[in-house]
Amino acid sequence: MSQPFLKIENLTQRFPDGQGGTLTVFEDAAFGVEKGEFVCILGHSGCGKSTIMNILAGLAEPTSGVVIMDGQEVSGPSLDRGVVFQNYSLLPWLSTLRNVMFAVKARYPDWTKAQVMEHSKKFLAMVGLEGDVIYRKPSQLSGGMRQRVSIARAFANHPKLLLLDEPFGALDALTRGTIQDELLKIWGGTEQTVFMITHDIDEAILLADRILLMSNGPFARVAESVEITIPRPRNRTAIVEHPNYYAIRNHLVQFLGRRSRELSGTASDGAPQSPTPVRIDKTTPSDDDEPRLRAVNV
Ligand SMILES: Nc1ncnc2c1ncn2[C@@H]1O[C@H](COP(=O)(O)OP(=O)(O)O)[C@@H](O)[C@H]1O
Ligand SMILES: [Mg+2]
Repeated sequence: MSQPFLKIENLTQRFPDGQGGTLTVFEDAAFGVEKGEFVCILGHSGCGKSTIMNILAGLAEPTSGVVIMDGQEVSGPSLDRGVVFQNYSLLPWLSTLRNVMFAVKARYPDWTKAQVMEHSKKFLAMVGLEGDVIYRKPSQLSGGMRQRVSIARAFANHPKLLLLDEPFGALDALTRGTIQDELLKIWGGTEQTVFMITHDIDEAILLADRILLMSNGPFARVAESVEITIPRPRNRTAIVEHPNYYAIRNHLVQFLGRRSRELSGTASDGAPQSPTPVRIDKTTPSDDDEPRLRAVNV
């Protein structure tokens, strides 16, 4: 079998619990992500999603286990991995355009200033930022605009892997919807591999090829890998009509509402804890499905 683009092997993270003991966030987590895949990870607050992402980014070191990306072990941050956090992390003294150019210049040191500028403007335009607004400082932008700048900056750098930690968590629903669409558009055009944390079920179904479900901590597990059997391009109003939408959604709600708790707290026996693959597809009738009514032209 071929190796996945990103491979997480027996990843364990423990922290001091502040009372002289140890908190095991997760143990022996094992999963893979294919090249070009858009994977969302869903789980309750505190289960360890950001901890996993920080390890994937090379910003934190696991207690044990390894992360292999494109055949190489991840150690320390790298421009091959772009990160977008909830709080934007833009440089406040630089304009919007300069914030993107700064990153592009670091990635492509041989480019001329004109090349860097053109490339940066192109990616800003992809997230709807054009004209005067790109010369404004981050403090003069709305929260939604700042998050767009972070996304443009991350994609402009063509990282091999893009890591997004609840990037839309602080945005209102309307802005969130628009930026989700822009994210899908930009991802569709670049075929980058994306690993995104969210706690929004509908956002995950709209965006992901696959959703990883995490049980509650301590001893959290990446328990299931749910394939999103809804074809692309997806559109937020149309996908709810797809026969698989509510079946998938109910599965996710059930997991987060009940099973995430039931599965929590069990130590691993040292074997890799891989997620169970789940595929829900109501479009191909199986033996245990009710016969479906079909529209017939007469
Ligand atoms: N540096 C740290 N030191 C001690 N405990 C930590 C540290 N980082 C995270 N934790 C703990 O690990 C658990 C998982 O945290 P986190 O990954 O931030 O969760 P999530 O992103 O899923 O909300 C929490 O119980 C949190 O308190
Ligand atoms: Mg988090």
